[in-house]
Amino acid sequence: MKLSKEVKVLIHTFGCQMNRLDTDIACESLVSSGYKITDDESEADVVLFNTCSVRDHAEERVLQRVRQIDRPGVIVGIMGCLAQRMGDELFRLLKKRLHIVCGTRRFPFIDDLVSRALAGERKVMDIDESPLPTPGIFEAHERSLHKGIQGFVSIMRGCNNFCTYCIVPYVRGREKSRPIQAVVDEVQALVDKGAVEVTLLGQNIDAYGKDIDSSLAELLRAVHENVKGLKRLRFVTSHPRDITKELLQAVNDLPKVCNHLHMPAQSGSNHMLEAMRRGYSRETYDEKLAMIKEFAPGTLVTSDFIVGFPGETEDDFLQTLELVRTSGFQTSYVFKYSPRPGTYSEKNLIDDVSEEDKKRRNQLLLQAQEESSTARNNALVGSEHEVLVEGLSNRDATRLTGRTGSNLICVFPAPENHKELIGEIVRVRVDSATALTLYTHIVC
Ligand code: 5AD
Ligand code: SF4
Repeated sequence: MKLSKEVKVLIHTFGCQMNRLDTDIACESLVSSGYKITDDESEADVVLFNTCSVRDHAEERVLQRVRQIDRPGVIVGIMGCLAQRMGDELFRLLKKRLHIVCGTRRFPFIDDLVSRALAGERKVMDIDESPLPTPGIFEAHERSLHKGIQGFVSIMRGCNNFCTYCIVPYVRGREKSRPIQAVVDEVQALVDKGAVEVTLLGQNIDAYGKDIDSSLAELLRAVHENVKGLKRLRFVTSHPRDITKELLQAVNDLPKVCNHLHMPAQSGSNHMLEAMRRGYSRETYDEKLAMIKEFAPGTLVTSDFIVGFPGETEDDFLQTLELVRTSGFQTSYVFKYSPRPGTYSEKNLIDDVSEEDKKRRNQLLLQAQEESSTARNNALVGSEHEVLVEGLSNRDATRLTGRTGSNLICVFPAPENHKELIGEIVRVRVDSATALTLYTHIVC
Protein backbone atom coordinates (compact mmCIF):
# COMPACT_ATOMS: atom_id res chain seq x y z
CA MET A 1 0.00 0.00 0.00
CA LYS A 2 1.26 3.52 -0.80
CA LEU A 3 0.99 5.88 2.18
CA SER A 4 -0.47 9.31 1.48
CA LYS A 5 1.51 10.95 4.28
CA GLU A 6 4.43 9.97 6.46
CA VAL A 7 3.18 7.79 9.29
CA LYS A 8 5.43 7.41 12.32
CA VAL A 9 5.43 4.22 14.36
CA LEU A 10 6.90 3.64 17.80
CA ILE A 11 7.48 0.12 19.14
CA HIS A 12 7.99 -0.45 22.86
CA THR A 13 9.70 -3.79 23.50
CA PHE A 14 9.38 -5.84 26.69
CA GLY A 15 10.87 -9.20 27.59
CA CYS A 16 13.63 -11.35 26.16
CA GLN A 17 16.10 -11.05 23.31
CA MET A 18 13.77 -12.99 21.05
CA ASN A 19 11.28 -10.16 21.50
CA ARG A 20 13.88 -7.58 20.55
CA LEU A 21 14.51 -9.54 17.40
CA ASP A 22 10.77 -9.75 16.69
CA THR A 23 10.59 -5.98 17.05
CA ASP A 24 13.27 -5.70 14.39
CA ILE A 25 11.28 -8.02 12.12
CA ALA A 26 8.23 -5.81 12.65
CA CYS A 27 10.29 -2.67 11.92
CA GLU A 28 11.58 -4.22 8.70
CA SER A 29 8.03 -4.96 7.61
CA LEU A 30 6.84 -1.43 8.48
CA VAL A 31 9.75 0.33 6.80
CA SER A 32 9.32 -1.73 3.65
CA SER A 33 5.78 -0.38 3.41
CA GLY A 34 6.85 3.25 3.82
CA TYR A 35 6.31 3.75 7.55
CA LYS A 36 8.85 5.69 9.57
CA ILE A 37 10.11 4.31 12.87
CA THR A 38 10.41 6.80 15.72
CA ASP A 39 11.42 6.60 19.35
CA ASP A 40 9.59 9.78 20.31
CA GLU A 41 6.12 8.95 21.60
CA SER A 42 4.88 12.54 21.27
CA GLU A 43 5.19 12.40 17.48
CA ALA A 44 4.08 8.79 16.94
CA ASP A 45 0.90 8.16 14.96
CA VAL A 46 1.03 4.49 15.87
CA VAL A 47 2.26 3.02 19.18
CA LEU A 48 2.89 -0.72 19.32
CA PHE A 49 3.81 -2.80 22.35
CA ASN A 50 5.79 -5.98 21.82
CA THR A 51 4.96 -7.88 24.96
CA CYS A 52 6.10 -10.65 27.31
CA SER A 53 3.88 -13.08 29.22
CA VAL A 54 6.44 -14.93 31.27
CA ARG A 55 5.31 -13.32 34.52
CA ASP A 56 2.17 -11.49 35.55
CA HIS A 57 4.13 -8.35 36.36
CA ALA A 58 5.37 -8.04 32.77
CA GLU A 59 1.80 -8.18 31.48
CA GLU A 60 0.45 -5.69 33.99
CA ARG A 61 3.09 -3.15 33.09
CA VAL A 62 2.03 -3.23 29.44
CA LEU A 63 -1.66 -2.87 30.20
CA GLN A 64 -0.87 0.10 32.42
CA ARG A 65 1.22 1.73 29.70
CA VAL A 66 -1.55 1.28 27.15
CA ARG A 67 -4.05 2.88 29.51
CA GLN A 68 -1.72 5.85 29.94
CA ILE A 69 -1.80 6.79 26.25
CA ASP A 70 -4.33 9.56 26.03
CA ARG A 71 -3.47 11.39 22.81
CA PRO A 72 -6.52 11.38 20.54
CA GLY A 73 -6.14 9.64 17.19
CA VAL A 74 -3.15 7.47 18.09
CA ILE A 75 -3.40 3.90 16.81
CA VAL A 76 -2.40 1.44 19.54
CA GLY A 77 -1.40 -2.19 19.05
CA ILE A 78 -0.32 -5.11 21.21
CA MET A 79 1.96 -7.69 19.63
CA GLY A 80 3.79 -10.78 20.85
CA CYS A 81 3.24 -13.12 23.77
CA LEU A 82 0.46 -11.25 25.58
CA ALA A 83 -1.39 -10.82 22.27
CA GLN A 84 -1.02 -14.52 21.53
CA ARG A 85 -2.18 -15.50 25.00
CA MET A 86 -5.21 -13.22 25.32
CA GLY A 87 -6.29 -12.56 21.74
CA ASP A 88 -9.51 -10.55 21.43
CA GLU A 89 -9.99 -10.52 25.19
CA LEU A 90 -7.54 -7.61 25.00
CA PHE A 91 -10.07 -5.57 23.01
CA ARG A 92 -12.62 -6.15 25.76
CA LEU A 93 -10.13 -5.24 28.47
CA LEU A 94 -8.78 -2.10 26.84
CA LYS A 95 -11.93 -1.04 24.96
CA LYS A 96 -11.45 1.74 22.43
CA ARG A 97 -7.86 2.35 23.42
CA LEU A 98 -6.69 -0.71 21.50
CA HIS A 99 -6.83 -1.14 17.72
CA ILE A 100 -4.46 -3.98 16.80
CA VAL A 101 -3.66 -7.42 18.25
CA CYS A 102 -0.81 -9.31 16.52
CA GLY A 103 0.36 -12.77 17.66
CA THR A 104 3.89 -14.11 18.04
CA ARG A 105 4.08 -15.52 14.52
CA ARG A 106 2.61 -12.67 12.51
CA PHE A 107 5.24 -9.93 12.91
CA PRO A 108 6.19 -9.94 9.23
CA PHE A 109 2.64 -8.82 8.44
CA ILE A 110 2.31 -6.01 10.97
CA ASP A 111 2.50 -3.42 8.15
CA ASP A 112 -0.76 -4.72 6.77
CA LEU A 113 -2.44 -4.67 10.19
CA VAL A 114 -1.35 -1.08 10.79
CA SER A 115 -2.61 -0.02 7.35
CA ARG A 116 -5.99 -1.58 8.04
CA ALA A 117 -6.28 0.17 11.40
CA LEU A 118 -5.28 3.50 9.84
CA ALA A 119 -7.94 2.98 7.19
CA GLY A 120 -10.53 2.86 9.96
CA GLU A 121 -10.97 -0.86 10.50
CA ARG A 122 -11.73 -1.63 14.13
CA LYS A 123 -10.31 -4.47 16.19
CA VAL A 124 -7.71 -5.63 13.68
CA MET A 125 -6.42 -9.00 14.83
CA ASP A 126 -4.04 -11.61 13.40
CA ILE A 127 -3.09 -14.63 15.48
CA ASP A 128 -1.69 -17.88 14.15
CA GLU A 129 -2.83 -20.63 16.48
CA SER A 130 -1.09 -23.51 14.71
CA PRO A 131 1.66 -25.09 16.82
CA LEU A 132 4.33 -24.58 14.18
CA PRO A 133 5.06 -21.31 12.41
CA THR A 134 3.66 -20.96 8.90
CA PRO A 135 6.37 -22.42 6.63
CA GLY A 136 8.67 -19.84 5.17
CA ILE A 137 7.32 -16.76 6.87
CA PHE A 138 10.39 -16.09 8.95
CA GLU A 139 13.05 -17.41 6.66
CA ALA A 140 14.06 -14.11 5.13
CA HIS A 141 13.57 -11.93 8.17
CA GLU A 142 15.02 -13.45 11.26
CA ARG A 143 17.93 -11.19 11.88
CA SER A 144 18.68 -7.89 13.53
CA LEU A 145 21.59 -5.61 14.23
CA HIS A 146 22.13 -3.57 17.40
CA LYS A 147 24.61 -0.74 17.91
CA GLY A 148 25.82 -1.51 14.38
CA ILE A 149 28.01 -4.40 15.60
CA GLN A 150 25.89 -6.96 17.44
CA GLY A 151 23.77 -9.28 15.37
CA PHE A 152 20.96 -11.59 16.52
CA VAL A 153 19.68 -14.57 14.59
CA SER A 154 16.80 -16.81 15.60
CA ILE A 155 17.81 -20.38 14.87
CA MET A 156 14.76 -22.06 16.31
CA ARG A 157 11.36 -21.09 17.52
CA GLY A 158 9.16 -22.51 20.22
CA CYS A 159 9.69 -25.01 23.01
CA ASN A 160 8.57 -28.60 23.58
CA ASN A 161 9.48 -28.85 27.23
CA PHE A 162 6.32 -27.78 29.00
CA CYS A 163 7.98 -27.02 32.31
CA THR A 164 4.93 -26.82 34.54
CA TYR A 165 5.21 -23.08 35.27
CA CYS A 166 6.05 -21.86 31.80
CA ILE A 167 3.84 -20.04 29.31
CA VAL A 168 6.38 -20.18 26.48
CA PRO A 169 5.22 -23.39 24.76
CA TYR A 170 1.66 -21.99 24.74
CA VAL A 171 2.49 -18.61 23.27
CA ARG A 172 5.38 -19.59 21.02
CA GLY A 173 4.38 -23.06 19.90
CA ARG A 174 6.46 -26.17 19.30
CA GLU A 175 10.15 -26.38 18.52
CA LYS A 176 11.07 -25.73 14.93
CA SER A 177 14.70 -25.52 13.82
CA ARG A 178 15.81 -23.54 10.81
CA PRO A 179 18.05 -25.26 8.28
CA ILE A 180 21.79 -24.83 8.81
CA GLN A 181 22.29 -23.12 5.47
CA ALA A 182 19.59 -20.52 6.23
CA VAL A 183 21.33 -19.70 9.51
CA VAL A 184 24.77 -19.49 7.88
CA ASP A 185 23.35 -17.13 5.23
CA GLU A 186 21.68 -14.92 7.85
CA VAL A 187 24.84 -14.69 9.93
CA GLN A 188 26.85 -13.82 6.82
CA ALA A 189 24.30 -11.16 5.85
CA LEU A 190 24.63 -9.59 9.29
CA VAL A 191 28.40 -9.63 9.15
CA ASP A 192 28.20 -7.97 5.74
CA LYS A 193 26.11 -5.24 7.39
CA GLY A 194 28.78 -4.68 10.07
CA ALA A 195 28.14 -7.28 12.79
CA VAL A 196 31.27 -8.51 14.53
CA GLU A 197 29.45 -10.53 17.18
CA VAL A 198 26.40 -12.64 16.43
CA THR A 199 24.14 -14.22 19.05
CA LEU A 200 22.08 -17.21 18.02
CA LEU A 201 18.71 -17.25 19.75
CA GLY A 202 16.35 -20.03 20.78
CA GLN A 203 14.13 -20.60 23.82
CA ASN A 204 15.75 -23.97 24.23
CA ILE A 205 18.72 -23.59 21.96
CA ASP A 206 20.65 -26.75 22.69
CA ALA A 207 17.65 -28.75 21.44
CA TYR A 208 18.42 -27.21 18.03
CA GLY A 209 18.38 -29.71 15.22
CA LYS A 210 16.42 -32.52 16.89
CA ASP A 211 13.65 -32.07 14.31
CA ILE A 212 15.99 -31.83 11.31
CA ASP A 213 18.53 -34.48 12.23
CA SER A 214 21.21 -31.99 13.17
CA SER A 215 22.60 -30.45 16.36
CA LEU A 216 23.74 -27.16 17.80
CA ALA A 217 27.34 -28.42 17.74
CA GLU A 218 27.04 -29.07 14.00
CA LEU A 219 25.51 -25.64 13.43
CA LEU A 220 28.24 -23.86 15.42
CA ARG A 221 30.88 -25.65 13.35
CA ALA A 222 29.12 -24.73 10.10
CA VAL A 223 28.81 -21.04 11.02
CA HIS A 224 32.38 -20.97 12.24
CA GLU A 225 33.71 -22.50 9.07
CA ASN A 226 31.61 -20.72 6.48
CA VAL A 227 30.98 -17.18 7.67
CA LYS A 228 33.71 -14.76 6.67
CA GLY A 229 34.55 -11.79 8.91
CA LEU A 230 32.80 -12.86 12.11
CA LYS A 231 34.70 -12.30 15.36
CA ARG A 232 32.41 -13.79 17.99
CA LEU A 233 29.54 -16.22 18.13
CA ARG A 234 27.21 -16.62 21.12
CA PHE A 235 24.09 -18.65 21.80
CA VAL A 236 21.26 -18.55 24.42
CA THR A 237 19.40 -20.14 26.27
CA SER A 238 20.67 -23.65 27.10
CA HIS A 239 18.57 -26.30 28.81
CA PRO A 240 20.75 -28.36 31.20
CA ARG A 241 19.33 -31.64 29.90
CA ASP A 242 20.45 -30.98 26.33
CA ILE A 243 24.03 -29.97 27.09
CA THR A 244 26.17 -32.66 25.45
CA LYS A 245 29.86 -33.45 25.39
CA GLU A 246 29.78 -32.80 21.64
CA LEU A 247 28.40 -29.29 22.19
CA LEU A 248 30.96 -28.48 24.88
CA GLN A 249 33.75 -29.73 22.64
CA ALA A 250 32.53 -27.42 19.88
CA VAL A 251 32.54 -24.49 22.35
CA ASN A 252 36.05 -25.44 23.36
CA ASP A 253 37.44 -26.09 19.87
CA LEU A 254 36.01 -23.12 18.00
CA PRO A 255 37.88 -19.96 18.95
CA LYS A 256 35.09 -17.60 17.87
CA VAL A 257 32.44 -19.36 19.95
CA CYS A 258 32.23 -17.58 23.29
CA ASN A 259 32.79 -19.52 26.48
CA HIS A 260 29.58 -18.58 28.22
CA LEU A 261 26.53 -20.73 28.86
CA HIS A 262 23.23 -19.47 30.20
CA MET A 263 21.99 -22.71 31.72
CA PRO A 264 19.08 -22.04 34.09
CA ALA A 265 18.91 -24.39 37.07
CA GLN A 266 15.56 -22.97 38.37
CA SER A 267 16.01 -24.77 41.71
CA GLY A 268 18.56 -26.76 43.70
CA SER A 269 15.97 -29.14 45.15
CA ASN A 270 14.98 -32.42 43.48
CA HIS A 271 11.51 -32.10 44.94
CA MET A 272 11.04 -28.77 43.14
CA LEU A 273 12.78 -29.85 39.92
CA GLU A 274 10.35 -32.72 39.69
CA ALA A 275 7.33 -30.52 40.38
CA MET A 276 8.58 -28.13 37.70
CA ARG A 277 9.11 -31.10 35.33
CA ARG A 278 12.49 -29.81 34.36
CA GLY A 279 13.66 -33.21 33.20
CA TYR A 280 16.84 -33.37 35.33
CA SER A 281 17.79 -33.85 38.95
CA ARG A 282 20.10 -31.81 41.11
CA GLU A 283 22.71 -34.53 40.65
CA THR A 284 22.42 -34.36 36.86
CA TYR A 285 22.72 -30.59 36.97
CA ASP A 286 25.89 -30.89 39.07
CA GLU A 287 27.20 -33.43 36.55
CA LYS A 288 26.58 -30.97 33.73
CA LEU A 289 28.57 -28.33 35.61
CA ALA A 290 31.39 -30.86 36.01
CA MET A 291 31.20 -31.72 32.29
CA ILE A 292 31.51 -28.03 31.41
CA LYS A 293 34.65 -27.78 33.55
CA GLU A 294 36.08 -30.89 31.92
CA PHE A 295 35.27 -30.34 28.24
CA ALA A 296 35.06 -26.54 28.00
CA PRO A 297 37.26 -25.24 30.81
CA GLY A 298 37.04 -21.52 31.46
CA THR A 299 33.40 -21.36 30.37
CA LEU A 300 31.31 -19.20 32.68
CA VAL A 301 27.83 -20.29 33.57
CA THR A 302 24.88 -18.03 34.40
CA SER A 303 21.53 -19.21 35.70
CA ASP A 304 17.88 -18.40 36.39
CA PHE A 305 16.00 -19.37 39.54
CA ILE A 306 12.36 -19.39 40.53
CA VAL A 307 11.63 -18.98 44.24
CA GLY A 308 8.29 -19.74 45.86
CA PHE A 309 7.17 -22.42 43.42
CA PRO A 310 4.11 -24.28 44.82
CA GLY A 311 5.15 -26.55 47.67
CA GLU A 312 8.61 -25.03 48.09
CA THR A 313 9.63 -25.57 51.71
CA GLU A 314 12.34 -23.74 53.58
CA ASP A 315 14.50 -26.84 53.16
CA ASP A 316 13.96 -26.84 49.35
CA PHE A 317 14.94 -23.20 49.29
CA LEU A 318 18.07 -23.82 51.37
CA GLN A 319 19.20 -26.37 48.78
CA THR A 320 18.86 -23.70 46.08
CA LEU A 321 20.76 -21.25 48.25
CA GLU A 322 23.52 -23.81 48.67
CA LEU A 323 23.67 -24.37 44.90
CA VAL A 324 24.15 -20.63 44.34
CA ARG A 325 26.78 -20.40 47.07
CA THR A 326 28.86 -23.30 45.83
CA SER A 327 28.47 -23.57 42.06
CA GLY A 328 30.24 -20.41 40.98
CA PHE A 329 27.55 -18.99 38.70
CA GLN A 330 28.77 -15.73 37.25
CA THR A 331 25.33 -14.15 37.61
CA SER A 332 21.82 -15.36 38.34
CA TYR A 333 18.42 -13.95 37.60
CA VAL A 334 15.93 -14.68 40.37
CA PHE A 335 12.17 -14.63 39.86
CA LYS A 336 9.27 -15.00 42.23
CA TYR A 337 6.89 -17.69 41.02
CA SER A 338 3.98 -16.21 39.10
CA PRO A 339 1.14 -18.56 38.09
CA ARG A 340 0.52 -18.28 34.35
CA PRO A 341 -2.99 -18.96 33.08
CA GLY A 342 -3.35 -22.34 31.39
CA THR A 343 -0.03 -23.83 32.54
CA TYR A 344 0.04 -27.10 34.45
CA SER A 345 1.11 -25.51 37.73
CA GLU A 346 -1.54 -22.81 37.54
CA LYS A 347 -4.26 -25.38 36.91
CA ASN A 348 -3.13 -28.11 39.30
CA LEU A 349 -0.94 -26.69 42.06
CA ILE A 350 -1.73 -24.20 44.78
CA ASP A 351 0.34 -21.03 44.86
CA ASP A 352 0.95 -21.63 48.54
CA VAL A 353 4.18 -19.79 49.32
CA SER A 354 3.34 -16.40 50.82
CA GLU A 355 4.40 -13.23 49.03
CA GLU A 356 6.47 -12.40 52.10
CA ASP A 357 8.41 -15.68 51.84
CA LYS A 358 8.84 -15.25 48.08
CA LYS A 359 10.31 -11.79 48.64
CA ARG A 360 12.60 -12.95 51.42
CA ARG A 361 13.88 -15.94 49.42
CA ASN A 362 14.34 -13.74 46.38
CA GLN A 363 16.48 -11.30 48.38
CA LEU A 364 18.51 -14.00 50.08
CA LEU A 365 19.31 -15.67 46.78
CA LEU A 366 20.25 -12.39 45.10
CA GLN A 367 22.45 -11.54 48.05
CA ALA A 368 24.21 -14.92 47.89
CA GLN A 369 24.75 -14.47 44.14
CA GLU A 370 26.09 -10.97 44.65
CA GLU A 371 28.58 -12.17 47.25
CA SER A 372 29.70 -14.97 44.97
CA SER A 373 29.99 -12.68 41.90
CA THR A 374 31.92 -10.08 43.88
CA ALA A 375 34.39 -12.67 45.16
CA ARG A 376 34.84 -14.15 41.68
CA ASN A 377 35.35 -10.73 40.11
CA ASN A 378 37.74 -9.56 42.82
CA ALA A 379 39.88 -12.60 42.14
CA LEU A 380 40.29 -11.28 38.58
CA VAL A 381 42.02 -8.04 39.63
CA GLY A 382 45.34 -7.92 37.81
CA SER A 383 44.31 -10.38 35.08
CA GLU A 384 44.05 -9.54 31.37
CA HIS A 385 41.12 -10.16 29.03
CA GLU A 386 40.11 -9.73 25.41
CA VAL A 387 37.13 -7.40 25.23
CA LEU A 388 34.89 -6.58 22.31
CA VAL A 389 34.28 -2.83 22.54
CA GLU A 390 30.55 -2.06 22.31
CA GLY A 391 30.44 1.71 22.81
CA LEU A 392 30.38 4.45 25.41
CA SER A 393 28.97 3.48 28.78
CA ASN A 394 25.42 4.72 29.40
CA ARG A 395 26.35 5.64 32.94
CA ASP A 396 29.58 7.46 32.21
CA ALA A 397 30.31 8.88 28.78
CA THR A 398 34.04 9.11 29.50
CA ARG A 399 34.22 5.33 29.56
CA LEU A 400 33.90 2.60 27.00
CA THR A 401 32.12 -0.64 27.74
CA GLY A 402 32.50 -4.11 26.32
CA ARG A 403 32.40 -7.77 27.21
CA THR A 404 34.80 -10.66 27.42
CA GLY A 405 33.95 -13.85 25.55
CA SER A 406 32.74 -15.27 28.85
CA ASN A 407 30.33 -12.32 29.05
CA LEU A 408 32.00 -10.31 31.82
CA ILE A 409 31.22 -6.61 31.53
CA CYS A 410 34.36 -4.46 31.39
CA VAL A 411 34.51 -0.66 31.44
CA PHE A 412 37.61 1.39 30.79
CA PRO A 413 38.56 5.04 30.14
CA ALA A 414 37.72 6.03 26.55
CA PRO A 415 40.78 7.16 24.61
CA GLU A 416 40.47 10.05 22.12
CA ASN A 417 40.12 7.69 19.19
CA HIS A 418 37.35 5.79 20.97
CA LYS A 419 35.06 5.75 17.93
CA GLU A 420 37.60 3.70 16.01
CA LEU A 421 37.66 1.12 18.78
CA ILE A 422 33.97 0.27 18.64
CA GLY A 423 33.63 -3.23 17.21
CA GLU A 424 37.32 -4.00 17.84
CA ILE A 425 38.71 -6.49 20.31
CA VAL A 426 41.12 -4.89 22.78
CA ARG A 427 43.15 -6.29 25.65
CA VAL A 428 42.41 -4.88 29.10
CA ARG A 429 43.78 -5.37 32.60
CA VAL A 430 41.44 -5.43 35.60
CA ASP A 431 42.04 -2.72 38.24
CA SER A 432 39.03 -3.26 40.50
CA ALA A 433 35.68 -5.01 40.44
CA THR A 434 32.10 -5.07 41.66
CA ALA A 435 29.58 -7.91 41.38
CA LEU A 436 28.62 -6.96 37.81
CA THR A 437 31.47 -4.86 36.44
CA LEU A 438 35.20 -5.08 35.96
CA TYR A 439 36.95 -1.68 35.99
CA THR A 440 39.87 -2.01 33.65
CA HIS A 441 42.34 -0.15 31.44
CA ILE A 442 43.48 -0.93 27.94
CA VAL A 443 46.90 -2.56 27.75
CA CYS A 444 47.02 -3.13 24.02
N1 5AD B 1 7.09 -17.49 37.24
C1 5AD B 1 8.32 -17.01 37.56
N2 5AD B 1 9.38 -17.08 36.76
C2 5AD B 1 9.23 -17.69 35.58
N3 5AD B 1 10.09 -17.92 34.58
C3 5AD B 1 9.43 -18.55 33.60
N4 5AD B 1 8.15 -18.75 33.94
C4 5AD B 1 7.99 -18.22 35.18
C5 5AD B 1 6.90 -18.11 36.06
N5 5AD B 1 5.70 -18.60 35.75
C6 5AD B 1 11.51 -17.57 34.65
C7 5AD B 1 12.41 -18.80 34.54
C8 5AD B 1 12.96 -18.67 33.13
C9 5AD B 1 13.01 -17.17 32.97
C10 5AD B 1 13.08 -16.69 31.57
O1 5AD B 1 11.81 -16.73 33.56
O2 5AD B 1 13.44 -18.69 35.50
O3 5AD B 1 14.23 -19.27 33.00
FE1 SF4 C 1 9.92 -22.43 29.58
FE2 SF4 C 1 11.13 -24.62 30.10
FE3 SF4 C 1 10.84 -23.91 27.59
FE4 SF4 C 1 12.51 -22.55 29.15
S1 SF4 C 1 12.69 -24.65 28.52
S2 SF4 C 1 11.04 -21.72 27.79
S3 SF4 C 1 11.50 -22.64 31.10
S4 SF4 C 1 9.24 -24.47 28.98
